[in-house]
Amino acid sequence: MQAAIYTRNGDPDVLTWGTVSDPAIGPTGVLVKVAYVSIEGGDLISRRMTPPANGPHVVGYQAAGTVVAIGEQVTRVAVGQKVCAFHWFGSHAELFAVDQRHAFPLPDGIDMAMASTVPTTFGTAHDALFEFAGLQPGETVLVQGAAGGVGIAAVQLAAQAGARVIATASGAGRSARLAEYGAAETIDHAAESIAERCLALTDGKGVDMVMDIAGGRAMAELMRAIRYRGRYLMVGIASGESTCLDFTDMVTKSLTCHGTLFGREMGTPRGQAIVEDLLRQMAAGAIRMPIDRVFPLSEAAAAHRYAEQAHPFGRVLMAA
Ligand SMILES: NC(=O)c1ccc[n+]([C@@H]2O[C@H](COP(=O)([O-])OP(=O)(O)OC[C@H]3O[C@@H](n4cnc5c(N)ncnc54)[C@H](OP(=O)(O)O)[C@@H]3O)[C@@H](O)[C@H]2O)c1
Repeated sequence: MQAAIYTRNGDPDVLTWGTVSDPAIGPTGVLVKVAYVSIEGGDLISRRMTPPANGPHVVGYQAAGTVVAIGEQVTRVAVGQKVCAFHWFGSHAELFAVDQRHAFPLPDGIDMAMASTVPTTFGTAHDALFEFAGLQPGETVLVQGAAGGVGIAAVQLAAQAGARVIATASGAGRSARLAEYGAAETIDHAAESIAERCLALTDGKGVDMVMDIAGGRAMAELMRAIRYRGRYLMVGIASGESTCLDFTDMVTKSLTCHGTLFGREMGTPRGQAIVEDLLRQMAAGAIRMPIDRVFPLSEAAAAHRYAEQAHPFGRVLMAA
């Protein structure tokens, strides 16, 4: 098959379009003919930091397409069925092999391009907000890094659950667009003080919860923005900067810190039920993911460069 491959970590240009062996599937494996690849924030980090094991490595967590082969123990999906699918690597290719636990049949009426984004964006946001951090209606949540895939999903789900959402993005235009997805207030994190705005918006009290998708140097601002006995929810490090929690902040405010990795939960019956419900919600039009741009899969280097550097709003996809 043809795939976007790299043999060393680095900038988007390490990705080349080449020929590799078709992936093999075991008894519980599902082979998907890829239609759309959703470029995840984690794909960019993997390309930079995850060493290729032996020979050409195919990066990528997530894609949607049609099932073309199944192992003899597979019961969740059938050949010919349209699915979105997750694995820790391998999506940037014509064929994507996943375990059946991570293959999700698409409901009728759903847009396959948009569906390719669901498990790691909406699934992560849902699990982080509700299962791990226990968001309640009426609470105020700050979503830091809200214009990316996980962020836009979190803004929608938190607002629909009755929370007041404060969302950050760089650039006034992009942060304003977050209001269309349910943000009550938006902050341009490149131009404004996040802490000052959050304190002003909460009568000096601070927000109940910070969902941090970016990490890095904004940590001190985020800690100032949280109320006494608030929650800090660590989801990602999209800033690419090292991220440390300060002992003094944690103790003096009696904060609770939650970390979560949805990839470890997605294949459980609970995680599967979450993703399947989110797919139904998307098919019904209740949630959506803006698709900023679609590149041909053969132009993965350009697609990664755009996703990493152009500040897209929502997801960048590749079409096979
Ligand atoms: N824990 C989990 O289970 C899980 C699951 C999925 C993803 N993740 C992680 O979550 C992160 C985001 O993933 P994604 O797919 O949403 O990525 P994405 O679509 O690339 O979005 C990342 C967002 O982060 C923002 N950002 C980058 N640097 C920032 C900074 N210094 N300050 C504030 N915001 C900043 C960007 O906003 P601006 O352009 O406005 O700066 C961008 O919209 C990644 O680190 C990924 O690995 C974790």
